[in-house]
Amino acid sequence: MINPENPIQQTISSDRLIPLSSIPAIHTLKQGILLEQTCLRHLTELLEASQGIDHIIAVSGYRTKQDQEQIYTASLADNGADYTARYVALPDRSEHQTGLAIDVGMLRKDVDFIAPAFPDSGVYKSFKQLAAGFGFIQRYKEGKEALTQISCEPWHFRYIGYPHAEIMERQNWCFEEYIDALRSCTYDNDHLLFEDNHSFVDIYYIPADAGAYTTIPVVLCDRYLLSGNNVDGFIVTAFRDKSRRAYG
Ligand code: DAL
Ligand code: ZN
Repeated sequence: MINPENPIQQTISSDRLIPLSSIPAIHTLKQGILLEQTCLRHLTELLEASQGIDHIIAVSGYRTKQDQEQIYTASLADNGADYTARYVALPDRSEHQTGLAIDVGMLRKDVDFIAPAFPDSGVYKSFKQLAAGFGFIQRYKEGKEALTQISCEPWHFRYIGYPHAEIMERQNWCFEEYIDALRSCTYDNDHLLFEDNHSFVDIYYIPADAGAYTTIPVVLCDRYLLSGNNVDGFIVTAFRDKSRRAYG
C-alpha cells in the first residue's frame, strides 16, 4: 500500500515492466506506457471480458519518481495547489511508481491526462463491475477521501490481485481499511477465509520483526503468495485447490 504516510520503499525491477505496445489491441494515449507483467496480463483479460478493448484508452501506467515530480510540478502550474493535492500524489507517494496502477479513459478526442473521463455506463461500467474478479480495485472512491487523502478517481485502477480485490469490493473497504482489517488476522488468530468454486483461500498477517529477518509460517496449501504491506508486515495468501481430495 502506497499513500501519503507510506511512501514507496522499493523500485520495481525493469525486467518486470512490459510495454503496453506488446498487446497491439490496447489503445494508448502515448507510446511507451509500461505496466508490471501480471498487472498487464490481467488488464488485457479485463478489457476483453468487459468488451472495452475498442472503447477504452490506457492513459498512464508506470511512472518513475522523476515522471511523478514532473507531473506534480506541471499540475501545480496548470491547475493550482488545490486541484493538484486532490488528484496528483506527491513523488514517492504515487501508486504509479509500483507499475501496478493504470489510468483508463473513454476513447475519444482530447483525453485529459490527469483526470480522464470514465463514465459509469456501458462498457466502462462493465469494466468497473468485472474489475475485482481480475484483481483490480477502483483505488480512490467517493466517501473514502478522508482515508485515501485523494479525491474520487473513477479512472484509476490498482492491481491488488484476486481474491483481495474481490474481498475489498464485497466489504466496501478501501485499501487503507483492508490493510487495517488484516492486522487482526494474525497467524495465531482467526485468518480471513475466502471461498470460491475452485479454492479455499486463507489470508493472514505476519508483523515484521524489528531485526533484519522475519520468520513467516505458511499453512498447508497448494500454493501461496507473500506480499509486504509496505507498512509494518507481510500478508500470506494461501490457496487450497478444491479438486484435491486431501482437503475434503
Ligand atoms: N492520481 C494519483 C493519485 C497519482 O498521482 O498517483
Ligand atoms: Zn492514476
